[in-house]
Amino acid sequence: MSTHAKLAVLGSINADHILNLAHFPRPGETVIGKQYQIAFGGKGANQAVAAGRAGADIAFIACVGADDIGERIRQQLEQDRIDIAPVETVEGEATGVAMIFVNAEGENNIGIYSGANAALTPACVVRHQQVIAEADALLMQLESPLESVLAAAEIARAHHTQVILNPAPATQLSDALLSHIDIITPNETEAEILTGIAVKNDDDAARAAAALHAKGINTVLITLGRRGVWLSVAGEGERIPGFSVQAVDTIAAGDTFNGAFITARLEGMALREAVRFAHAAAAIAVTRPGAQPSVPWRTEIDAFLQQQD
Ligand code: RIB
Repeated sequence: MSTHAKLAVLGSINADHILNLAHFPRPGETVIGKQYQIAFGGKGANQAVAAGRAGADIAFIACVGADDIGERIRQQLEQDRIDIAPVETVEGEATGVAMIFVNAEGENNIGIYSGANAALTPACVVRHQQVIAEADALLMQLESPLESVLAAAEIARAHHTQVILNPAPATQLSDALLSHIDIITPNETEAEILTGIAVKNDDDAARAAAALHAKGINTVLITLGRRGVWLSVAGEGERIPGFSVQAVDTIAAGDTFNGAFITARLEGMALREAVRFAHAAAAIAVTRPGAQPSVPWRTEIDAFLQQQD
């Protein structure tokens, strides 16, 4: 592929309300927070920003509400080197919202109001089908209506656009959708929901990957948190460890991995090299708070990798 390979990302945009607490509230419990911020997020937008900052030629298909934060998010996405022509502003709807608790260990709990993201219907996808048809790869997640994800995958397939799906948040998916996916990137929980195989070690990861290959997916990357990634191509698997860093919070670590990974692949990096590049981007992201504020630029990823050599 040329260095000017095009990426389309389709997905959600959220305003993240992030509250840091000593521990997650139990049912009926109130916990006083330590720190609060509103930051731009949403799995689709985070992955688009990760790709844009890593240097991809990227267009983003998404929806915001006709509100102040929606307009500010659009402006920020442009500054992150993203073509926002396919980001629609939906009258009468609010921009999506994510309520995020982060505990002292840096783990998070997230509740979502879809808002304008629900307006990313199959009809909306069709309005932007040219973007998908002209792209070399289409990256999606599951905070958008499932029928729209399927519609986009079908358009991509018809135009030989590679489809990469980050199946988050976890849900079961139809064989029809899975059959259109070239690369899938579940974490352990998502892999279990898709395959019924609990992923506790490398053998489990290999079996879960085999189950996904059997659905027609050529390349499977199961993200394993601190243990790295299980990379399996047509049944040939290996674990590629990540980088060890001091995590502040893991919000958007997976999103950063996905955006950086596909950017590297579109530049022509080999799979293992692209995984290492994505590991570096995600490692930087977890050392910083929030979703998009934590996503690194290309110069930062390159500098991080140079320090490892
Ligand atoms: O993956 C992290 C994202 O999940 C957050 O930015 C939040 O918006 C939720 O969508």
